[in-house]
Amino acid sequence: MNTLIKKAVAARKNAYAPYSKFKVGAALEASNGKVYTGCNVENSSYGITVCAERVALFKAVSDGARKFKRIAVVAETKGPCPPCGICRQALHEFSPALEVIMANTKGRTRKVKLKNLLAHPFSLNNH
Ligand code: THU
Repeated sequence: MNTLIKKAVAARKNAYAPYSKFKVGAALEASNGKVYTGCNVENSSYGITVCAERVALFKAVSDGARKFKRIAVVAETKGPCPPCGICRQALHEFSPALEVIMANTKGRTRKVKLKNLLAHPFSLNNH
């Protein structure tokens, strides 16, 4: 298993998912090589739950990082776990060329470019 996926697997252990019981881990590699991890954090007020990918992204951005090379996402899914639409848009803001490594806990993986996962990203620059 590649290093970034291993970090996502480790981050997943901290997932706070008492409602869905669906634990997700993410590991985001910045352009300088630093890796930021995240897990999903749920809440009694379901709608304010934050996905693992955005936890990793916001940790990174708040640390000053702005450009990213790769993200690994892992969950206990049948096939490799894809990031949700909100997370795709959030990641696209910083790195449209991001490589997304989808994985599951059984070690199945799939690599896709973010621009191929998010066909028509929203951008204020298009207005
Ligand atoms: N979740 C993520 O962490 N990432 C995704 O890309 C999709 C969904 C979380 C949110 C919630 O805690 C649980 O998975 C079920 O939707």
